Amino acid sequence: MELRVKRAPRIDREITVPGDKSISHRAVIVAALSNGVCKLNGFLPGEDCMHTVNAMRALGIKIEQPEVTKLVVHGKRRVLTAPTADINCGNSGTTMRLVAGLLAGQKFESRLVGEAGLSKRPMDRVIAPLCEMGASVVAEGPDGTQPLRVSGGSLRGIRYRPSVASAQVKGALLLAGLFARGKTTVEEPIPTRNHMEKMLNYFLVRTTTEADGSVTVFGDQVPESRDFDIPGDISSAAFWLVAAAAQRRGHLLIRNVGLNDTRTAMLGVLLRMGAQVREAIEDVEQLEPCGVVEVTGVPLKATVIQGKEVPQLIDELPILSIAGVLASGKTTIRHAEELRVKETDRIAAIAHNLRTMGAQVTELSDGLEIYGPAPLHGARLPSFGDHRIAMAFAIAGLFADGETVIQDAECIRESYPGFESVIEEFTNPKRMQVSTPVIGSLAPVPAEEG
Ligand code: S3P
Repeated sequence: MELRVKRAPRIDREITVPGDKSISHRAVIVAALSNGVCKLNGFLPGEDCMHTVNAMRALGIKIEQPEVTKLVVHGKRRVLTAPTADINCGNSGTTMRLVAGLLAGQKFESRLVGEAGLSKRPMDRVIAPLCEMGASVVAEGPDGTQPLRVSGGSLRGIRYRPSVASAQVKGALLLAGLFARGKTTVEEPIPTRNHMEKMLNYFLVRTTTEADGSVTVFGDQVPESRDFDIPGDISSAAFWLVAAAAQRRGHLLIRNVGLNDTRTAMLGVLLRMGAQVREAIEDVEQLEPCGVVEVTGVPLKATVIQGKEVPQLIDELPILSIAGVLASGKTTIRHAEELRVKETDRIAAIAHNLRTMGAQVTELSDGLEIYGPAPLHGARLPSFGDHRIAMAFAIAGLFADGETVIQDAECIRESYPGFESVIEEFTNPKRMQVSTPVIGSLAPVPAEEG
């Protein structure tokens, strides 16, 4: 599929975005381990999260989807059954890493497989600590890559300091820790998103977080079944926030968006770049803070993104690179070498596509230098099979002369089904009847056998 984009007229809108991807994965898994029925509202029916749903189904959990964004998960008190076939993680690194942690605690053999894109993603970061806990996790691909053969059970809790700042590694170890003897502690030199520990707490599983940021879970606990409302995904909101921030007098208000402070660092970057940003937490009762973000656009100034900020906006770096190319001055991104092992090498992909649109960019081993404001011209751009590259460059197309064509844009469905209709709304605001079609336009994602 190709996504065609042209320059946008002035943005002045109010929208919502689909449910948070990270929280959706975790909600399904923890609900499946609980002692009863859990209703999850606001679930993201993107392909990645559906792979997690189907993985849990393959492990014997009944999960109904009465509406596209609602799930009813029938928890079975941590009892999972051996899958009858390989578990397909599609292109979802989060599914493979989190489910590997879960399977490490099970007394049966299983095999996790995925698409070709997933074969380039490092899995040794979860394999090593899970083996240290007593599981056997074998990577069948070269250099610690998928498929993964997992044979688990009889885990012991460990204290582990990952060499990369990764919420997926932390999440995998906390899930394994639930099935381990004693306590499992993950040290976090640089804090990453804290959704797993929050989710476990919400389901009344005892965890502790120390002042140095290390997180501990105590083994042998059964999550208490709960219903849960998943807020909108700030990483999806980021595309529209940058579009409005980079447009003089652009204005955008996004409601019901997750405002967990381990995820909102990109708002601070937009503020530094000069945009007016307002965030207001409206729902403090919920597990995850949630509210409104409002942005008013100005001519943006370049900034530097580096250090501890990076893990807290790692998924927003493609779209913040677009903010950088529209800002005046040199925007520098450092300490972001993790971008090289995402759905594609995002540093190389951003540099390639920005240059194709006429911008000047220097590629660094761990980041980018981007010179703005560049007069962008429309171009045919590869998505590199990466949803966030596809969406970031669709937003760049809103600021370019002529037409921008994003090739192989179907990958967008992994995290943001309905993105194309919002782009259409931004480029042709008068033609659109509905003001917030985001969820209404979603097509249900077919369930796999399981
Ligand atoms: C995620 C964590 C991040 C992020 C990914 C989702 C999660 O990856 O890039 O999109 O849900 O835990 P890492 O943990 O590998 O940094």
